[in-house]
Amino acid sequence: MKYQSRKNDKFMEFIKIVMPKLMVIVVLVMLISLTNSCTYKFVEPESIGLNPTDTVSFSTQIIPIFTSNNNCTTCHKPGATSPDLTAANAYNELNSKNLIDLNDAANSKIYYYCEPSSTSHSWKKYSENEAAAVLLWITQGAHNN
Ligand code: HEC
Repeated sequence: MKYQSRKNDKFMEFIKIVMPKLMVIVVLVMLISLTNSCTYKFVEPESIGLNPTDTVSFSTQIIPIFTSNNNCTTCHKPGATSPDLTAANAYNELNSKNLIDLNDAANSKIYYYCEPSSTSHSWKKYSENEAAAVLLWITQGAHNN
């Protein structure tokens, strides 16, 4: 522009030099946050000491997640909120109410609905360890073991 002051020209020059560098930084930050966002949706069993080759026991490892200190059973018990997660009924409920997807473990509602990064079920979430145990149990076939 004809009427631009010298000050303005200098400013434009500065912008021309700085902008490409800013763009590089912005792209880098976006890439970093992208790779990070992929790491916490599915908790890797290895990262919390659960060995994927060990068999997860429903009765001794999964049921206590539901019932210890009434963690889930304070709400999910007979006559209250579905599903009934008490030791006597949890296995039947999970199966009869389609909360387990054996073809795609991470798509099981008993897993994804309460896993730590989910936006659903604000009542209560699993800890990372609990989520990993539930996911591994389903991956292994969700047996009543
Ligand atoms: C404070 C009460 C409360 C606690 C504790 C609680 N829940 Fe829930 N849960 C609810 C309510 C209310 C609903 C139904 C509304 C909804 O979907 O958010 C529900 C729904 C669910 C559903 C979806 C059921 C369906 O058929 O769609 C699942 C799965 C579930 N809860 C699992 C759990 C697990 C696992 C725990 C323990 C880690 C837990 N809940 C702890 C109140 C609770």
